[in-house]
Amino acid sequence: MTEETPKENLPAALVNDPTSIQAIDQFRQLMLNYRSAIQVMRTKIRYLDQEYQIQNGHSLVDSLQSRIKSPESILEKVQRKHFDFNLNTLPNDMHDIAGIRIIVRFEDDIQAMEQRLARQPDIRILRRKDYITHPKANGYRSLHLILAVPVFLAAGTIEVKVEVQIRTIAMNFWASLEHELNYKKQISHQAELKQELLEKAKQVHELDHDMNAIKNQIRNSERPEGPKTI
Ligand code: GTP
Ligand code: MG
Repeated sequence: MTEETPKENLPAALVNDPTSIQAIDQFRQLMLNYRSAIQVMRTKIRYLDQEYQIQNGHSLVDSLQSRIKSPESILEKVQRKHFDFNLNTLPNDMHDIAGIRIIVRFEDDIQAMEQRLARQPDIRILRRKDYITHPKANGYRSLHLILAVPVFLAAGTIEVKVEVQIRTIAMNFWASLEHELNYKKQISHQAELKQELLEKAKQVHELDHDMNAIKNQIRNSERPEGPKTI
């Protein structure tokens, strides 16, 4: 196949011997494993969503985002968290090199998606962080799972870690703006804006709750198909 392999620039500090071709190949293989794990998960989620649509007449997933951490971000995190500069231990230390975000419409859909993922026989949930039942102090809400996903290599099957975030459209809307605020280093009125965002997080929570309740009323009040009245 003549598909082009993305050229990853290896952060020199991650390699014991920066000139080592072996280390560069090892890094490329590692990134290929993560890209493959993302593809496995995207296919799985798309399939689960289509199956749900057939069963329920509406979709579960509003949108799906995925990314591989850039070499620069990997290096920044290795330094920030004081991990070893070692490609052999990196997959154990860092759980979010491959990341998937599943955006759903309603709070109930988060649980529905988690249940469907948990029932997949070939993936394992290694860690679960429920920032919905226990939101962060800044108001952040989302369900985080670290999954072990099978990737099939010529030499056999390996398990690759993928971080999955499941959240509603409203939670995602809030988190994207809050991320922007944190990303900007020098911003005036930062404390006030954080406080405002905390207030908005409460409103987002209320909105999610109310929309979920209305959705249940609509779906539960649906009458069974009978003779049409004019
Ligand atoms: P990281 O070192 O940031 O990856 O955190 P962690 O390993 O403690 O994991 P955690 O599950 O807390 O967060 C992982 C990811 O969730 C982050 O990289 C963000 O994408 C997202 N996230 C966590 N907390 C927040 C938050 O307060 N605001 C926003 N906008 N996103 C968050
Ligand atoms: Mg992260």
